[in-house]
Amino acid sequence: MKFDELIRTNGTCRYYETTEVSNDVLARVLDASRWAPSGGNRQPLSLIAVRDQALKTQLQALYQPIWNEFLNGIYAGEKQYKARPKLLIDADHFAKHIDQIPVLLIVCARLADVQPTDVALDRLSIVGGASIYPAVQNILLKAREEGLGTALTTLLCAVEPAVKSLLGIPADISTAAMVTIGWPSKPFPRSLTRRPLSEIAFIDHYGSKFDEP
Ligand SMILES: Cc1cc2nc3c(=O)[nH]c(=O)nc-3n(C[C@H](O)[C@H](O)[C@H](O)COP(=O)(O)O)c2cc1C
Repeated sequence: MKFDELIRTNGTCRYYETTEVSNDVLARVLDASRWAPSGGNRQPLSLIAVRDQALKTQLQALYQPIWNEFLNGIYAGEKQYKARPKLLIDADHFAKHIDQIPVLLIVCARLADVQPTDVALDRLSIVGGASIYPAVQNILLKAREEGLGTALTTLLCAVEPAVKSLLGIPADISTAAMVTIGWPSKPFPRSLTRRPLSEIAFIDHYGSKFDEP
């Protein structure tokens, strides 16, 4: 598969077949994570592929109330929400059916091994995540190449202590995401809704137009 097609059709998958994902395929997908960069090459990432039905049921039970609260916040106008309504319908279906997705991948990070260079600034630190999410993107792309659908989610991080206790995650390891993995029951999107390059790329100074060839 050509790289351009891969990145342009790798939408968030919220509808899955229940058909299992073999260990062979899963291993190839997880292996892709190892090749991502990390600050100082400290490689803080670890992964738990949850297949056990009882555990998946409990993860869904943890996810659902956070999603409900998020959704209610949108309907009550407390949260600004720009995305199209279909996304909410899809995400609601997804929340209710997470336990039926073949693999729930819990992405973990040893925070002692991330190198956030922006913690002294008077704003939210974002650099720590830069040692983790490139590896997650490798997983999403490799899965797409294998024909698997994925959804990168972070809502469960809000209840990290419960997730850690459920999965026996050590005290010095944190959760960074849950990536759902399975065979999609709907076709991959032909293109994704994204801001144009003209809005996000500048030359020399912020706001100075980058001329696309
Ligand atoms: C950091 C991050 C967190 C996200 N968390 C969730 C989540 O908790 N639940 C969910 O359904 N989707 C989640 N998403 C998926 C986004 O909603 C999705 O990437 C976005 O709507 C674009 O969708 P598309 O890639 O299908 O075009 C998350 C995506 C990112 C990058």
